[in-house]
Amino acid sequence: MNKNEAKKQTAKLRDEINYHNHKYYVENNPVISDYEYDMLLKSLEALEAQFPDFITPDSPTQRIGGEPLKGFTTVDHKISMLSLENAYSYDELNEFDERVKKNAGDVEYVCEPKIDGVSIALIYEQGVFVRGATRGDGQKGDDVTANLRTIHSIPLRVQGSDLKNAEVRGEVYFPISTFKKFNKEQEKKGEQVFANPRNAAAGSLRQLDPRIVATRPLDTFLYYISHSDTDFKTHEKSLETLRTAGFRVNPLIKKVRNIKEAITFCKDLEQKRETLDYEIDGVVLKVNSFAQQRQLGATIKHPRWAIAFKFTAKQATTRLNDIVIQVGRTGTLTPVAVLEPVQVGGVTVSRATLHNFDELKRKDIRIGDMVLVERSGDVIPQVVKSIIEKRKGDEKARAIPKKCPVCGSEVIRTIDEVAVRCPNKQCPARLKWRIDYFASRDAMDIDHLGGQTVDKLIEKGLVDTIADLYNLNKEDLLTLEGFKDKSVENLLASIEKSKQQGLARLIYGLGIRHVGKFAAQILASHYPSIDELAKKTAEELTQIHGLGEKTAQAIATFFATEENIDLINKLKDIGIRTKEAKKEGRLTGKKFVFTGGLQTLSRPDASDLVMKNGGMVSSAIGKDIDYVVVGADPGSKYDKAKKLGLVILSENEFKKLAGAA
Ligand code: IVH
Repeated sequence: MNKNEAKKQTAKLRDEINYHNHKYYVENNPVISDYEYDMLLKSLEALEAQFPDFITPDSPTQRIGGEPLKGFTTVDHKISMLSLENAYSYDELNEFDERVKKNAGDVEYVCEPKIDGVSIALIYEQGVFVRGATRGDGQKGDDVTANLRTIHSIPLRVQGSDLKNAEVRGEVYFPISTFKKFNKEQEKKGEQVFANPRNAAAGSLRQLDPRIVATRPLDTFLYYISHSDTDFKTHEKSLETLRTAGFRVNPLIKKVRNIKEAITFCKDLEQKRETLDYEIDGVVLKVNSFAQQRQLGATIKHPRWAIAFKFTAKQATTRLNDIVIQVGRTGTLTPVAVLEPVQVGGVTVSRATLHNFDELKRKDIRIGDMVLVERSGDVIPQVVKSIIEKRKGDEKARAIPKKCPVCGSEVIRTIDEVAVRCPNKQCPARLKWRIDYFASRDAMDIDHLGGQTVDKLIEKGLVDTIADLYNLNKEDLLTLEGFKDKSVENLLASIEKSKQQGLARLIYGLGIRHVGKFAAQILASHYPSIDELAKKTAEELTQIHGLGEKTAQAIATFFATEENIDLINKLKDIGIRTKEAKKEGRLTGKKFVFTGGLQTLSRPDASDLVMKNGGMVSSAIGKDIDYVVVGADPGSKYDKAKKLGLVILSENEFKKLAGAA
């Protein structure tokens, strides 16, 4: 290919890929397969490698993240980034409306979700994304261009001519659906965990290495054009322009005719709040007409034509009265904050997690501190930080305990783990959780055997192992405080019933490290009995598609431990079902993978349905998989399945195949 042709070809590929990128990341509506997309990207990479002169800043190859920076440079915002006035009640919204009407007459409002992320300003020159900055203090922010480039929903080149030279503003956020998992991984790696998705977004944007940012699932909503080549008459029109230029604009934004309708919007959105995949902390009301906006003007701090209605806060400050140590099922010691009870977003909170001792030290949280507590991002309440200014000097730090607070064994801390553990397998705290876990709904589902009852059983010395549950009798149980004939009968009946729960639940209930519900089902669908499973080496287990090495190793270790084998033998003697009859059915020998959210079936029910019909369930895509059942918002498994050309089923098709529809 000569230089001229190459130049043309790079430009063509660039445009084509950018178009598909927009279809995928902004419109959520891809028109080619991932495989085809990858092929286009590969061709462009190859061409650019041969002709590096033709690499442009808007080339999709530039999204992967360049060299790490030494620090961020500060940039001046040509147009300052104002903040918004807040309203905490509908009365305040009505007052705002009165003021607006007095100065500008009747107005329409545009109501927008107030995205709880990090605000950014993006600058385009000649249609190309050239610079992006954080808000900073409103006058000056950090230049985070290299990081923003890695976010796929930010167009590297705008479409059309309205915003060729423009500054647009919006919010970068961290999707809630990936936040919990991300935090877990951070915790495992011994890296910082974030209190909420907003901090995760801010922390990601502050990363000096754009290649790390490229691995984070950041997304954007744009909501404001602060400067452009084109004049618009209304805010509504400017949002439309943002959308057609290729930006992601929030789909819930709505124009209303008056404050009453705006208040209805606020109420509706607060209801919907928990169903969204991004955090919102309120609603922004904006006067629609730009002429009226100009009439209203701005103070030095905020525009007079907009207001933020804030939802009930999910944060509160309170005193941290104590830090207690919880010993979990696997022996992990977790510091837990005991708080002066406080309302957080409508729920009374008196305990909050402090994650682990590294976090405790990093955040320097002490007993007696006033602390900021938060519920958000679908996780249990947590202590965000101490309010250092309120310290009196008598607050006490909590040291890492040398001994288990329950059994007194010396704790261990391995180098590769953040966790501090009690190594004593007989530790009453661990036994309690083990029984709790065994009896839990997804495991053996023993009704009437909650945490307090387990505590009592252990205290009385009635159970030392899980198997002892099955030797309990009426006389023993009647000695427990609060137990009468009826409650004893109920408990004994539930224990008896649990014997027939079946192999998958039993495997899960044993609490083998890394073996969750799903892994347990996979194992039960591959091996007909616990004895078969116990015989497998780690090596053999990794042959099961979707079972990771760590999990395989943990299973092998579990069954290599004498007391576990003892337990299993006892369970067999008791008559617990540890085998499954070989099932023949319409799905015999077929392997299934599920991805995305199903509408009418829970995952365990869907897996049950496969197994009942003789099929097997796997968690990873591979050539050996016969069917991939795809629900809402499927992830990379779907892409991979398409690439491999596997048979893809909708939930309904699956149900038909399994004879359940
Ligand atoms: S408009 C002059 N719209 O809220 C207009 N802001 O408290 C400035 N925010 O700094 C902002 N969602 O980071 C606007 N739909 C939305 C928003 C929004 C979130 C943030 C933004 C701003 C802060 C003001």
